Amino acid sequence: MGAFSDVAGSATSTKKLVNLLRGITRPPKALRVQSAFSNTSFRWPNPSLLPTQLLDKATHNVLKDQNIAFPAMSYGPDPGDSRLRKNVASWLTDFYQPVDPVAEERVCITGGASQNLACLLQVFTDPVYTRNVWVVAPAYMLSFRMFEDAGFHEKLRAIPEDDEGIDIEYLRWEIRKSEHKAKASGNNKPRIKPSRPWGKIYKHIIYAVPTFSNPSFKTMSLRRRQELVRIAREYDALVITDDVYDFLQWPSSLTTRTMSLEKAVLPRIVDVDRYLDGGAERADADGFGNAVSNASFSKICGPGLRTGWCEGTIKLAYGVSQTGSSRSGGAPSQLTACFVAETLATGELQHFVYHTLQPSYCKRYRKMVEVINKELIPLGVRLPQTDREVVGGYFIWLTLPHPLKGAVLAQRAKEDENVVVAQGEIFEVPGDTEHPSTSFGNDIRICFAWEDEDMLAEGISRLAVVIRKMQGETGEQGTQPVATEGQAKNFW
Ligand SMILES: Cc1ncc(COP(=O)(O)O)c(C=O)c1O
Repeated sequence: MGAFSDVAGSATSTKKLVNLLRGITRPPKALRVQSAFSNTSFRWPNPSLLPTQLLDKATHNVLKDQNIAFPAMSYGPDPGDSRLRKNVASWLTDFYQPVDPVAEERVCITGGASQNLACLLQVFTDPVYTRNVWVVAPAYMLSFRMFEDAGFHEKLRAIPEDDEGIDIEYLRWEIRKSEHKAKASGNNKPRIKPSRPWGKIYKHIIYAVPTFSNPSFKTMSLRRRQELVRIAREYDALVITDDVYDFLQWPSSLTTRTMSLEKAVLPRIVDVDRYLDGGAERADADGFGNAVSNASFSKICGPGLRTGWCEGTIKLAYGVSQTGSSRSGGAPSQLTACFVAETLATGELQHFVYHTLQPSYCKRYRKMVEVINKELIPLGVRLPQTDREVVGGYFIWLTLPHPLKGAVLAQRAKEDENVVVAQGEIFEVPGDTEHPSTSFGNDIRICFAWEDEDMLAEGISRLAVVIRKMQGETGEQGTQPVATEGQAKNFW
C-alpha cells in the first residue's frame, strides 16, 4: 500500500483536488481527516457503495447462531467455509451460465485475489523450472511484487494487447524461444520445490485481467480466450486471471435506460478451459487444468473483508487449499467468509451488486465518457474498444495524441489544474519493454470509482485544458518525460 498512501494534489493551486487516480470510492467529507488516514490514506469507500448495513445484518445473524458462530470463530477447513463455497458456486452458475453447474469442489476460499496470487505461485511454480511469468501489459502493477517475491524477478515478460486483447502470436513466439532456452540449459525438472501429490509445477505462468482490465479497460475476445487456453495446454502453462471486475458491468450505450446486467457476456478463461476440445479433465490430461479464476469480494462487497475465492478444476482447487499457510489453520479470512456466506444466502449481496453497484458505477462512467467524447476526443485522445456493447470495471485508459507524454500530462495536470491521474509507465512490466506496444509513455489511466460523482466531468474538462495548452506549446515541451521511474512511483 505504501506507494498509494499519500496522493497529494498541487501545493499551490486554489482549485479543489480532483483525484482520478484511485480505485476505490471516496469517503464522505466527514471522514476526510488527514491525520486519521495517514497510513491507510483515503481508501475508505463511500458508505453508499459499501454494503455496511447488509454486513451488519449478516454479522449479527452469524454471531447469534451458535451453530454458525462457533465454526466461524474457529480455524476453518482448508478449502474454506463450506457454506460460502456452495453459495459462491451457485452465484457463479447463475452469472456465467456454464453448461454444468459450478460444483462446490471447484471453489476454494481465499484471502482475496492478491493473497491468493501468492498462494498460487507457492503451490504451482518453481522459481527455476518455471521458465517465465508472462504478463499481459499494461498490467496491474501491484502484482509485480508478488511475482518478485516468488522468485520471478528476472523472469517477468510483457505480452502486448491489441484491440482484441492479448497478442497471441507474440506470446507463442516468445514461449517457443523460452522453451528452446530451457531445453538447451537442461532445465527439465523442478529443482527447488518438492514434488507433492496435490500440486504440480507448471512450466509457465500467464497472468491476465481479461474482463474490464485494470488498467487497460479492455475485454479479451472469446476467440483470444480460446487461443490462449490452447497455447497454455501446448506449453504447460497455468493462466491466472484476476476476474475481480466481472460483476461490475453495464451497457456501453450512454443513453439506454438499462444500467444493470445480471449475466456475464463472456465465459471466463477458466470456463473455456473447462469445456474446450474435451475440457480440462479430458482423458489424456493430468486433471489440474490450465486456468484458474482468481476472484474477490473486494470490489463487490468491501476490500476490508480480505476475502475472495478461486475456481479451477477440483484437483487445482484442492491444490490451492493445501498451501502451507492454509494447512496451518485453514483457509484465510474464515470469519469474514462466514459473514459473506450469509449475505449470499439471503440474496442480498447479489441484489446490492445488480441494483446499487452496477447502476452507480454506470452513472459515474457515463458522466465521465460524455465529457471525454465532447472535450478529449476532438483533441485526438483515443479510447480502446469503442465497439463493445458492455463495459465495466473502475478504470478508463486514454491514449494521448502524438507526441504528448502521459508523465508530462500527469505532472502538468497536477500542478496547473490540481487533477491527479496515473501515467501509463506505472503499468509497464518491470524489465521488459522490448516490444514497442509494451511501453506506455503516451497513455494515462483514469478512474471513475473514487472521486465525488459531481467532480468527474470537471476533472476531464481540466485535463482538456492542459492537453490544449501542451498542444499549443512549441518545441519539445509537453513531450519530454519529466519523471524518472522513482519519481513516478512517488507521484502516487
Ligand atoms: C486486477 C486486480 N487484481 C487484484 C486486485 C486486488 O484484489 P484483492 O483486494 O482481492 O486483493 C485488484 C484491486 O485493485 C485489481 O485491480
